[in-house]
Amino acid sequence: MPHALVESFEIPKAPFVLEGVEFEFISLPYKNCGVVGVKIDNHNFLLKYIQNENKTLIKYDKATRIPKLNIIKRAINSFCNAANSKKLHSNTVITRKDPEYKNYKNIDFFLEEFNFDKEIWIEIGFGSGRHMLHNAKNNPSVVHIGLEIHKASAEQVLKQCMLQNIDNVYINDSDARMFLEMLPANSVSKIFIHFPVPWDKAPHRRVISKNFINEAVTVLKEGGRLELRTDSKGYADYTYSILMDLDFCELSAKKNHFIEVSSKYEDRWKKEEKDFYDLVFINHKSSDEKEIIKDFSFSGYINYEDFLKNAKEHVEPEDGFFVSAKEKYPLNAKDGLVKVTMGTFNSPQSLYLLFKDGKISYYPKAPYPTKANFLAHKKLEAIIGKNI
Ligand SMILES: C[S@@+](CC[C@H](N)C(=O)[O-])C[C@H]1O[C@@H](n2cnc3c(N)ncnc32)[C@H](O)[C@@H]1O
Repeated sequence: MPHALVESFEIPKAPFVLEGVEFEFISLPYKNCGVVGVKIDNHNFLLKYIQNENKTLIKYDKATRIPKLNIIKRAINSFCNAANSKKLHSNTVITRKDPEYKNYKNIDFFLEEFNFDKEIWIEIGFGSGRHMLHNAKNNPSVVHIGLEIHKASAEQVLKQCMLQNIDNVYINDSDARMFLEMLPANSVSKIFIHFPVPWDKAPHRRVISKNFINEAVTVLKEGGRLELRTDSKGYADYTYSILMDLDFCELSAKKNHFIEVSSKYEDRWKKEEKDFYDLVFINHKSSDEKEIIKDFSFSGYINYEDFLKNAKEHVEPEDGFFVSAKEKYPLNAKDGLVKVTMGTFNSPQSLYLLFKDGKISYYPKAPYPTKANFLAHKKLEAIIGKNI
């Protein structure tokens, strides 16, 4: 990740624009660390400065999610200039264009632009992508959504899509458990989960859980299917028992069944002469439309320091969601930012609350519209409301 180590650093006064980079606010340090609100080409994000004796490290705050490295480099370079600092070391020289992977789609795309009228297949944890790309080539009228949290694998498959001119694959690197929750009911025809990490000693870490199956059943169309292929009998048994708890279920199971394309993991397990288990679930239920979660605004106001005190006292894990408030970054006597982490323990989301000019808002933008995030938001609102 781009960063610069500098000396003779002076905290500049925001707001200002330098070299086309908007610096909207700059906090004072909390302990030895401060944040800088930056805007470039409609991307809002934070830089962090960390002071250590007479040296300062300037880097990007990854909680504020921005995929383009060159944008981060530009922001760091301009901030160093604004702070009149001398670079001791940096990796912020812009040497080439950021790759434009047109098959990569962020969550906002799926929430705001994606057309759910086409037939949709989803592959969760596609790894090397062999199975998904095979499906994409053989089913050109279907839109294939690939979800893969391992960024290097996602990037490899994005490159392959570009080289092979594949345009019916959309790739996202979010946790599939959270992603499914944000899709409309009755919108997906097939969900593939091939060789998920078995977590035989820690089943709670598996992608599949009771909650996941409920989400999958909701997004699957009537007649839609979910396929698990695994080398772990434990995982197959566990999934079987969750599916059999549904009050409607058509399920078929196969052992050592051949399929047309062998994934990287399948090849590995074949060499070790492992057994393979396939479960195919067919959905026979049409689900009610999901409640649309949109409103993440705050009506009340308190000072950010009071908020942090109360949030620390009151916020605890409960009812399938959690929220915790940690670091505070003062902007002036009244205003500041507080970092919050919210959602579920499996896929938590970190972002900031900006307390500015008598208003509170999320920074850089509202949390993803999941149930857990909304419950966490309500909890934050209650903490704020109690203290007006
Ligand atoms: C054992 S690999 C299998 C890869 C591929 N399906 C294959 O058969 O070769 C499991 C993959 O699932 C991905 N993964 C794990 N949990 C995930 C999640 N919650 N959402 C999306 N991908 C996930 C991992 O990063 C990993 O690449």
